[in-house]
Amino acid sequence: MKILITGGAGFIGTNFILYHHQHFPQDQIINFDKLTYAGDKSNLKELEKTSRYHFVLGDIADRKMVDRVMRGVDLVVNFAAESHVDRSIANPRAFLETNVLGTYCLLEAALENKVSRFHHISTDEVFGALSLASKNKFSEQTKYDPSSPYSASKAASDHLVLSYYHTFGLPVTITNCSNNYGPYQYPEKFIPRMITNLLLGQKIPIYGDGKHVRDWLYVEDHVRAVEAVLAHGKPGETYCVGGLKKDVNNLTLAKAILKIMKKDPDKWLEFVSDRAGHDRRYAVSWQKINQDLGWEPKYSLEEGLRATVSWYQNNQTWWQNKKKEAESFYQELAKK
Ligand SMILES: NC(=O)c1ccc[n+]([C@@H]2O[C@H](COP(=O)([O-])OP(=O)(O)OC[C@H]3O[C@@H](n4cnc5c(N)ncnc54)[C@H](O)[C@@H]3O)[C@@H](O)[C@H]2O)c1
Repeated sequence: MKILITGGAGFIGTNFILYHHQHFPQDQIINFDKLTYAGDKSNLKELEKTSRYHFVLGDIADRKMVDRVMRGVDLVVNFAAESHVDRSIANPRAFLETNVLGTYCLLEAALENKVSRFHHISTDEVFGALSLASKNKFSEQTKYDPSSPYSASKAASDHLVLSYYHTFGLPVTITNCSNNYGPYQYPEKFIPRMITNLLLGQKIPIYGDGKHVRDWLYVEDHVRAVEAVLAHGKPGETYCVGGLKKDVNNLTLAKAILKIMKKDPDKWLEFVSDRAGHDRRYAVSWQKINQDLGWEPKYSLEEGLRATVSWYQNNQTWWQNKKKEAESFYQELAKK
């Protein structure tokens, strides 16, 4: 089997490739990535020694390049995206180019090359937000209601992907996943930002009152969910993927990390002003993927956080320069 992974030098794509190669070593993997600030080719340098893995530098919005890498491919998993909400507020254009136009180019090439499956990685942020008082969860039936340029561009790409199933019969599947965390996540995102701040002796910034609720999923569990959908998912279907059964707000999450890192919450938390359009609560029902495909998360939040803290402690050279870039982005943002 020849698999095209887009965005495989990013956080989730890297974890997916490492897992897939370990479990299906006979498959040939092509990692097609533009290497934006979020991509790091060296994540997979060990695999470069094998003949089953190839890295190709390129943009999913470049139709000619996409046609070339798609030749002979059986299966596509599209991780490539601009993925950071704050950056989408600062510069929405890149989000439309990659997330919408790029997905379109991949779909066209996948159709021409008659791939047996096109799997699109999406987010629960397409559903908008729930109120803190609500007991509801997002599910496959929830109406799309995105609130940032990031989530709007992901929503557009999901609609486009499904339209290629309904209009052209392309065998597509989609997963709408909650917030991931784990090894290789760029330190601009909430959990690695908290951990790396603490490792550098800096406080954790908490937006607003810290009562925003997110669903958290350890990245390996997300990867296993994608594998389950590739193996047994039905074309034309979407699957919601989440990690928690109980709501956890940002403040509680920060305190859990402080506890693991043995730091006093009174000294290491700093409340900062809230960002525009900051969604209040996300919660995901993963009943369908559980019932239809037998998937469930393996890691508890505590186990996932411990594994993540330990990875960032042991891989400081991986994140130090990325951290400088991410923090200068946040400083620029604060000046606006
Ligand atoms: N991280 C999360 O919590 C989360 C949750 C749900 C869904 N998702 C989705 O999962 C996917 C992967 O997210 P991530 O956190 O790994 O993102 P990431 O930002 O870490 O990685 C994105 C990768 O895509 C590459 N890329 C960007 N633009 C490209 C282009 N035009 N052509 C080719 N490659 C390009 C980057 O170089 C990078 O390697 C995204 O589609 C995202 O929307 C992420």
